[in-house]
Formats: sequence, C-alpha cells, structure tokens
Amino acid sequence: SSTGSMIVISNRLPFVLQRNKDGQLVRKASAGGLVTAVAPVVINGNGFWVGWPGIHLENPNEPIPESDPDDITPTAGLKSDKVIAVQIDPAVFDSYYNGCCNATFWPLFHSMPDRASFKGEHWKNYVTANKEFAECTLRALRQLPRNNTESPLIWVHDYHLMLTSNWIRQYADEEGIPCKLGFFLHIPFPPWDIFRLFPWSDEILQGMLACDMVGFHITDYCLNFVDCCQRNLGCRVDRKNLLVEHGGRTVRVRPLPIGIPFERFVELAEQAPRVISTNQKIILGVDRLDYTKGLVHRLLAFEKLLEKHPEHLEKVSLLQIAVPSRTDVKEYQELKEEMDQLVGRINGRFTTPNWSPIRYIYGSLSQDELAAFYRDAAVGLVTPLRDGMNLVAKEFVACQINIPPGVLIVSPFAGAGETMHEALISNPYEIDDASEVIHRALTMPEDERILRMNYLRRREKLNDVNYWTKSFLSAMGSLQTADDHDE
Ligand code: UDP
Ligand code: G6P
Repeated sequence: SSTGSMIVISNRLPFVLQRNKDGQLVRKASAGGLVTAVAPVVINGNGFWVGWPGIHLENPNEPIPESDPDDITPTAGLKSDKVIAVQIDPAVFDSYYNGCCNATFWPLFHSMPDRASFKGEHWKNYVTANKEFAECTLRALRQLPRNNTESPLIWVHDYHLMLTSNWIRQYADEEGIPCKLGFFLHIPFPPWDIFRLFPWSDEILQGMLACDMVGFHITDYCLNFVDCCQRNLGCRVDRKNLLVEHGGRTVRVRPLPIGIPFERFVELAEQAPRVISTNQKIILGVDRLDYTKGLVHRLLAFEKLLEKHPEHLEKVSLLQIAVPSRTDVKEYQELKEEMDQLVGRINGRFTTPNWSPIRYIYGSLSQDELAAFYRDAAVGLVTPLRDGMNLVAKEFVACQINIPPGVLIVSPFAGAGETMHEALISNPYEIDDASEVIHRALTMPEDERILRMNYLRRREKLNDVNYWTKSFLSAMGSLQTADDHDE
C-alpha cells in the first residue's frame, strides 16, 4: 500500500548548515535514527521537511546547498527544494530554544521540576516560534499537488513544537486544504502532578489535541497524557482504547516505541576496525552530557565497584563518551564542571602507572566509530535517571556481534528499560546496588550472556525503525499493515 505526500516538521532539520572557510553554506549531515527512518518517506513520497537549519542567515533567501556528492547518509537524497529552512529572529529563537524548550520543558517532562525555570517571556517566544513553524508548513502545504484520494500527512516532532498543530489546522481549514496531522513526542510525558506545574499547561494540551493522532514511546506516557487531558481540560476520555474527545473530534493516542536502523548498525559493526584491544575489558557509556542521563550516579557506582571488588582494578575501565550539548544553558554548564571534577577525583584515587579507571571523552563520535566501541565493549551501561526511550541501548545490542557477547545494563526509568527485558535492570539512584549489577555483568557466564543477547537482538531487529515508521502511518490510518507483530 502507498502513502500520499508527507510534510515532516522538527526543530532541527536532518542536517545543519555551516559556512566553510570561503563563506559558502554547506550541509553537515546528522545521522540520527529519526532521520534514517523518516527521510526516505519524505524523499520518495513527494514531501517536505520543515525545520531550523542551525544557523541564522543574514539573507533569508540565500539558497540551501545540495548535499556533498560523496555524502552517503540517508539525508543526502533530500533535495534542497524539499527543505524549508525556518528563520526566526535570533533573540526570539534563543528564548524559545534555550529558555522554554531546554530550561523548562526538558527538565519538567523528565520529572525534574526543581531544575525547571518558568518564565512568561520564554513562553511568549515559544508561542511566536511555534506560529512561525506553522506558517512555514503552510508554504509547504500550498506547494503540494492536490489529490482527491489522499490528504497529505503532516508529522510534527517533539517538545519544541507542541503548539504548532493548532495553527496548521486553523490555516489549512481557512484555505480549504485538507490534511491529516500527527504528533510524536520523543521524550517522556510526565504524570499530571508534574505537568500541572507548568503555568500554561492547558495550552500545551490544546496544541497537541489539534492533531488526529498523538504518539508516545510507551503506554505509561500515553496514560499520563490522557489523564492530563481529562483533569486539566475536562475532556471525555477512553483509557482502554486511548481516545480523547476534544473540540468535537476524537484524538487517538498511541504507544509507538521507536526503533533503530538495525541492519545498518550490524553492517557498521562488521566493517569497523578494532579499537579496544583484546586484553582490555571496557564498560561503555555513550550519552549527550545531560543531567537526565545519570552520569554522576554512574561514576559513583563505578567507584563503589572498584572499592568493593578490587579484583577489577587494573583489569576494567569505564569509557564514557559525553557529547557536548545545549552548552548555553546553565544546568548543562554546571554538569560539565561537576563531571570534570568527579572524573579527576576518581582517576586520582585509583590510577596506577599502567592503568586508569575512567577514560572520559568530552566530544562526539560518528556512528561508524561508535559501532566499534559498541561491538567490543564487555558491558553497555545505559543508566539514565529518566529517558524517553534511549537509542544507545538499542544500537549497543545491534552491534554486539561477537560470540560470546557482552552484557547490557539499563535503567528502568528509560523507555528502553520497559521493553528490553533480558537486559540487567539497574536503578541508578541505588548506587550500592548499581555497583553490584556491574559486578554481576562483568562475571556473568558465557551461556547466559549469549541467551540474553540473542533475545535482545531479535526484538530490536524485528521492531526496527522501519517498523516504527510503518506503525506511525498505520496509526494515522494511512497504511494497512498485515505484519503487525507487537511483542
Ligand atoms: N550519538 C552519536 N555520536 C556520539 C554519541 C551519540 O552519533 O558521539 C548518537 C547515538 O548513535 C544515538 C543518539 O546520538 O543515535 C543518541 O540518542 P539517544 O536516544 O540515546 O539519546 P538523546 O541524545 O536523544 O537523548
Ligand atoms: C533529544 C530530543 C531531540 C533533540 C536531541 C538533541 O533526542 O528528543 O528533539 O534534537 O535530543 O538535542 P538538541 O537540543 O541538540 O537538538
């Protein structure tokens, strides 16, 4: 079966624009799972991608460059005439992105309200920015060929754009352009008693309910959302079938756990050269440097392990890759300081002439490079305090092609912890226990490692990112799939 045109809207385009040394604009591809999954639908389905190009252009009409001829990432096929680069006044953008998105919604939706700031000014700019994204989307919508059988599909992504659908629906109605609207939230949706702390929480719900379908990673987030609609707005809801009535329409709410391009990671792992020598045991952490990722707790658990199980001294190292992220936001700057100090203290305490317990990289690697670490690590440590899904956990198991394989440890507070049943589950807040779980992973018998990893890999292979995209389309009623295979 086929789909009509699709317009994807996300805060970030699937690439960022930069100036090279000659002052020319060039694309820098980003290879996230979302991009890999969704780009083909836009490219093949005659659609558009609306988003921010990561740069403020002096001349908003400056043409977007095509991708580099030797670019082999999935975005390379996205022609510039299918991209709408949203340009927002720099001061408005700063307040919308650093203020409202990353200093308010990010901590609040991860149930960390003490880290959230609530400023009317940031909210005002969030509203303005969301409206501008909607106007750009209408420009795309007007360009699509009219087709009597299928309305175009508009797919809005993430917490940056929770209001946009409101105006898209309104403008499209005014212009008599039919369309179907779907929203997907890539982060958790918090329980009502947290959500209601946001002073303008009703408006968020109304914005999301302008869609025909609202998707989340797991059922818990769906139920939180339905609950908020009922308690904040007084909507009639059906918890069993996950339906919310609003403005004379019935909105579907669906759990759609995202997957990864599994086969691509297997290939990367097969091709990657060795980077960890065979006589080393590496515990691997890969995260944006973000306070939701539980990095401080993780280092303390590792320190406790060395204290309580000195047999691992000089044998095991923790390799932590921490990608710089949102460095204009205070909480992120403070976490950077805290991590630098903690790594220094633990290394100072245990380092010997031939060995250091922690190898800490403050920087980012390409996914080809990551694949080598994922493949050869003995333990993958994914222990966020809260995380919508966590793709690193899934990429790790995809790349674990060695026999015998390593062991995945995951936090129950990540969406991934909800579905990856054969991983070792570890509560990051319980530091003593977390250190014991790492010890158990390091000493697990080979046959148990094989068994667990087989199950984990099988599930991720089945529920990969293509399956996720198909599930989204079928939840929108735009695709009949015969091969539904929930696990
Ligand atoms: N990633 C990367 N290079 C790095 C570290 C991470 O490309 O050095 C990618 C990683 O492969 C994964 C994504 O960043 O696809 C992180 O996604 P996840 O869901 O784990 O966390 P998020 O950053 O979205 O909170
Ligand atoms: C999370 C969010 C994404 C966001 C990414 C990187 O995965 O769900 O929407 O793009 O983090 O954060 P950034 O602020 O750099 O876009």
